Amino acid sequence: MATTQFASARLRLPAARGPAQQHARRGVSVQCVAAPDQVTTRVQRNKNMGKLQAGYLFPEITRRRKAHLEANPDAKIISLGIGDTTEPIPPFIVEAMKAAAEGLGTLEGYSGYGAEQGTPALREAVCKRLYEKVGRKPGEIFVSDGSKCDIGRLQLMFGADVTVALQDPAYPVYVDSSVIMGMTGGHDGTGFENIQYMVCRPENDFFPDLSKAPRTDIIFFCSPNNPTGAAATREQLTQLVEFARKNGSIIVYDAAYALYINDDNCPKTIYEIPGADEVAIETCSFSKYAGFTGVRLGWTVVPEQLRYADGFPVINDFNRIMTTVFNGASNIAQAGGLACLQDDGWQEMLKLVEFYKENAAILRTTFEEMGFTVYGGQNAPYVWVGFPGQKSWDVFAEILQNCDIVTTPGSGFGPGGEGFVRASAFGHRDNILEAVQRFKKVYGGQK
Ligand SMILES: Cc1ncc(COP(=O)(O)O)c(C=O)c1O
Repeated sequence: MATTQFASARLRLPAARGPAQQHARRGVSVQCVAAPDQVTTRVQRNKNMGKLQAGYLFPEITRRRKAHLEANPDAKIISLGIGDTTEPIPPFIVEAMKAAAEGLGTLEGYSGYGAEQGTPALREAVCKRLYEKVGRKPGEIFVSDGSKCDIGRLQLMFGADVTVALQDPAYPVYVDSSVIMGMTGGHDGTGFENIQYMVCRPENDFFPDLSKAPRTDIIFFCSPNNPTGAAATREQLTQLVEFARKNGSIIVYDAAYALYINDDNCPKTIYEIPGADEVAIETCSFSKYAGFTGVRLGWTVVPEQLRYADGFPVINDFNRIMTTVFNGASNIAQAGGLACLQDDGWQEMLKLVEFYKENAAILRTTFEEMGFTVYGGQNAPYVWVGFPGQKSWDVFAEILQNCDIVTTPGSGFGPGGEGFVRASAFGHRDNILEAVQRFKKVYGGQK
């Protein structure tokens, strides 16, 4: 018999229920160990993590939403907040994923690890559908588990020593990943030291005055922009590319919403601009096109022509990053992605995008009719509503309190977003219509 801390003979045991008691009854040893004292490791925290501000925007919104619900248990909250898709993935695309999943259960259909860069068929399909006309090649397309993850991996590739510029307001991942990488100093109450915030507000048509912008190594640029919904015109993007070429900078162009563009004068890819292939990386995603926010599939384009200062091809380093810290997108997701790019899937995807665009138009019209100054919503699934003179978080709280609607405070996207809230067009139609009624009840006629 193994040793016991307490001899089982001396224990008065009730009828054996749990495994420990059954063991004790059989005379097996039972160790009764006191919880160890709490120790702290001797590992220093990454000091850059400590520089980040009050958590990521969306967890804070979730916290406030939860608090509102606790205080108002009957509230039927409508979320126009985080920007997550709501409509089902269309059937042709779902069928392709079902077939891929079922195939995995058969000898013939089983596949394990795939190429880290994505299946050749998907790389070719992305290229053919979206980039062939602008001179890109399948080997320049890196398929991934999404744009957000690719932005993190691009930052890992650039390292801590580069300088960074970004639109203000912007998708928070550019700032936070720059901070985590150590590219920045601390936060001075308004923004981070060593980040160039390129203010994009109505006053400058949501496009930075590049004649005053200092040179940086990397420029993050998102069009159509999250959160403002502004899509850059051909002339503006030509200026941006010229600026990068003159300064020897790399643009990281986030095109996650390109398919939402209606205006022919707004390019759907940065590579429509001559010379962009020598200065720009583009990242994009199936998330907001096909409802793949949970499926996870995106891609990043790194042109062969893009070189570092010493002439080394950037694509070689990105390939090294992908093969080192990424192990390929899910084979089921890639089957879905391939279906998205076939004619039937493509039509389904356009229909889905059209649905959200209609939501955006409904929201935009509502705010306009109530007398608000509204931007976005025409080439993007986001409507950017101005509340001049008010703090964004106060407006967020007021709308949550009065309408039981979650929006996103503009200042959460950077100091330039102060005075605005973002309303997302991702929602079921009946929720959008209900939200409109609530807005009208509270704000209609106030302006
Ligand atoms: C501008 C922008 N880029 C990238 C992403 C992330 O996309 P993915 O789901 O592919 O990671 C989002 C998601 O909201 C976004 O708004």
